[in-house]
Amino acid sequence: MLDVQKIREDFPILTREVHGKPLVYFDNAATSQTPQVVIDAIVDYYSNYNANIHRGVHTLSQEATDAYEMARKKVQKHFNATHTHEIILTSGTTHSINIIATGFTSLLSEGDEIIVSALEHHSNIVPWQMLCERTGAILKVIPMNEDGELVMDVYDQLLSNRTKLVFTNHISNALGTINPIEEIIEKAHSVGAAVLIDGAQACPHVKPDVQALDVDFYVASAHKLCGPTGVGMLYGKEEWLNKLPPYQGGGEMIEQVTFEKTTYAGLPHKFEAGTPNICGGIAFGVAIDYMNSIGFDNIAAYENELLEYGTQKLLEIEGLKIYGTSKNKTSVISFNLNDIHPYDVGTIVDKLGIAVRTGHHCAQPIMDFYKIPGTVRASFSFYNTKEEIDALVEAVKKAKMMLS
Ligand code: ALA
Repeated sequence: MLDVQKIREDFPILTREVHGKPLVYFDNAATSQTPQVVIDAIVDYYSNYNANIHRGVHTLSQEATDAYEMARKKVQKHFNATHTHEIILTSGTTHSINIIATGFTSLLSEGDEIIVSALEHHSNIVPWQMLCERTGAILKVIPMNEDGELVMDVYDQLLSNRTKLVFTNHISNALGTINPIEEIIEKAHSVGAAVLIDGAQACPHVKPDVQALDVDFYVASAHKLCGPTGVGMLYGKEEWLNKLPPYQGGGEMIEQVTFEKTTYAGLPHKFEAGTPNICGGIAFGVAIDYMNSIGFDNIAAYENELLEYGTQKLLEIEGLKIYGTSKNKTSVISFNLNDIHPYDVGTIVDKLGIAVRTGHHCAQPIMDFYKIPGTVRASFSFYNTKEEIDALVEAVKKAKMMLS
């Protein structure tokens, strides 16, 4: 089991105060906090070997290149990709999705169908709508039920030989629902469609195995799993990445440039135009090592305990309703208090040192489904404690008293 008090010592930010109270950080689904070892890697890079990569014969450039490519290797191992060149380092999940959505422009025709789920973040909706505008393809939606689960019978009906692509998240950022991605992938493949899974919210909680899943594309962001912002990954099966055109043109992604004709570099560089977030990539690798040193089985078991405890304690507050009640969910609790606006609750609990997210969580269709403007979302990580949940419960009670 986890020694949570010891783990908390790894995170300098957890000792700070907010409005004179100890910080309780429950906005982990928006971004996780950063352990000292990742901060040290960032300082080390800029203090000792800051240089551009893949470009110089000089020692600093070679050291930076080696460290960056080592990080790619760590990402490959973590996600169990077959080849290192199937890992594209990007600026984050949104960038990764846009690479694929743009790339499919030349592969779709008018009347082709692509399927999204009702539980998506805007970053896994809007790029595909833009793709439909460019190609005349049709976007179909797997609906959700009151518990915040996908209605899989309807998915079965939506699939046909017109379906070219299916994309859903692994875990919903707004509700915490764990989607049945194995079933989604298998059924999509049975009609010849490719599948992209948005793993941004899953990666802090589980360790995906892209080969076992047989998924075509899997995307994630470093900052959700204790890494820095501005860096993420795109896994694509080699055959798919070879089929897709480059996303951006520029340095690094070329083989040969003349004014008559340019030829492109092979994988992964074809999708990595320009100077990347070198330091971020290196720190991403360090964050992956850190998370693995704690162990994803330990993380899942402990966060599940927090989820059960938090759910039970919050439901003791009269008038509190939780959105997202699937049995299969991670440590995210989205809730509202009677008709009180989530923003007002969020403001009061912040005054008590507690960070939660309020609003539609970049998932407006989910809020429309429940006919609410948004929710208060508390998302727990492996460095949170039951005592912090008690503080949240007291703060929510106080907010209720002040706002009722
Ligand atoms: N996608 C992030 C969230 O859910 C920002 O808060």
